[in-house]
Amino acid sequence: MENRPQWGTRAGFILAAVGSAVGLGNIWRFPAVAYENGGGAFFLPYLFALLTAGIPLLILEFTLGHKYRGSAPMTYARVNKKFEWLGWWQVGIAFVISTYYAVILAWAASYSVFSFNLTWGDDPAAFLFEKHLQLAAPGEFGGIVPSVLIPLVIIWVVTLGILFAGVKKGIEKANKIFIPTLVVMFLIICIRAVTLDGATEGLQSFFSPDWSRIMDASVWVAAYGQIFFSLSIAFAIMVTYSSYLPKKSDITNNAFITGFANSGFELLAGIGVFSALGFMAAQQGVPVQDVVEAGVGLAFVVFPQIINEFPAFNGLFGFLFFASIVLAGLTSLISIVETFVAGLQDKFGISRTKSVLIGGGISALLSLIYATRGGLNFLDSVDYFINTFGITLAGLVQVILVAWVAKELKNLQSHANGISDIQLGTWWRICLTVITPIVLGWMMIDNFRINLTTPYGGYPIAFLIQWGWLVALAVIIIGIAFSAIKWKKEHPASVSNDK
Ligand code: PHE
Ligand code: NA
Repeated sequence: MENRPQWGTRAGFILAAVGSAVGLGNIWRFPAVAYENGGGAFFLPYLFALLTAGIPLLILEFTLGHKYRGSAPMTYARVNKKFEWLGWWQVGIAFVISTYYAVILAWAASYSVFSFNLTWGDDPAAFLFEKHLQLAAPGEFGGIVPSVLIPLVIIWVVTLGILFAGVKKGIEKANKIFIPTLVVMFLIICIRAVTLDGATEGLQSFFSPDWSRIMDASVWVAAYGQIFFSLSIAFAIMVTYSSYLPKKSDITNNAFITGFANSGFELLAGIGVFSALGFMAAQQGVPVQDVVEAGVGLAFVVFPQIINEFPAFNGLFGFLFFASIVLAGLTSLISIVETFVAGLQDKFGISRTKSVLIGGGISALLSLIYATRGGLNFLDSVDYFINTFGITLAGLVQVILVAWVAKELKNLQSHANGISDIQLGTWWRICLTVITPIVLGWMMIDNFRINLTTPYGGYPIAFLIQWGWLVALAVIIIGIAFSAIKWKKEHPASVSNDK
């Protein structure tokens, strides 16, 4: 009765899940977050967050997908007919992210080519903002930038091409090639980085613990925030990927492997990035703290500066760095787009080809917004709001609905225990019914407090309302609207959800 696609191998599923988890967050977010929140002392809250929320939620999402065998909307509808909107909301969040994530990959693709000639010159900041992006003021579009458009088209062709090919022949195969390649390339960079002059000072400032920060609630919030974002939780992604698992699959083990592999890559990135920062600080004769950056500034301004000063093979190491960003990001983008490809297929009974064409096509068209001269401003604001008032809030609603309203945890626990080596106990349910809701609830209150008092990034309020608050709200409304549409094939609840 079942014609749902399946992963070919267990390693294929794990590589795809790790491919989704390992993304820009590992490379340009984790090192700075750890550094700013106590350095070596951050590892305690980080590990705590991984074990009490990250891995338990990963197990929850793997179990939901495996048991109910559907995209996020179908899975949540099968838990309870009234929960379908949550699936669409999460799919909507993934959709919004896909529109700008592709653009960052397009920049990185250009920079991997620029590396060979050090095209960015002596002033990479001026190059990025004035030449490459031709950045306009917040709220202004100012026409499409051709040098961004061309790589963007290539990124979409590759991503949608892989999705057309299907779960096994497309997603699985791509991850089997991309992830090992990424690990090798990134290892080469890190080995070179730790042997640079000044690397020791960089590593020292990264690892030296500031225990005075440990009682600070914001440090714990940062740890949980990093874990949620980094593991791609509450995005519909892990539910979708695990809906393609064969009946016999060790869910709990897979979740632990995915969680630890992602954190391992984060640690590696922290070592590589801070070695390189230590090198740059030594070159410029300034303290390491003066050169620490995250996000776009780290990747597209600081790293080009580091590459400029590299003792030898600048071009090669520049290429390896930006190609790593492209591969890490591409495997995440594939997983993001797959959430709505699967959702549309389930709901409207259309073929994968049609679904990729429609869903991927609309996302690709919308991504042109960020290829305009005002693109970076829109991207920055949408990214911040969809993360703060999308993922966190959707994660909170998810645990409340599944654990408290549907009281599903005991059923899910026995489902997972029936097929897994490691047996889930009461601790798993406590993590999800008590710890995770408290932390997420606290984070939400904190987020509202901060954003209602200080406008994010110093942008004009009207800009933040349009490109922040309204985007986050629109996704919820669209989620509810989609759940009101009738199912094409069969009502999801009428399909047996055999245990
Ligand atoms: N988990 C990814 C990372 O650490 C980020 C991501 C965001 C992945 C959105 C999928 C969707 O970078
Ligand atoms: Na990650």
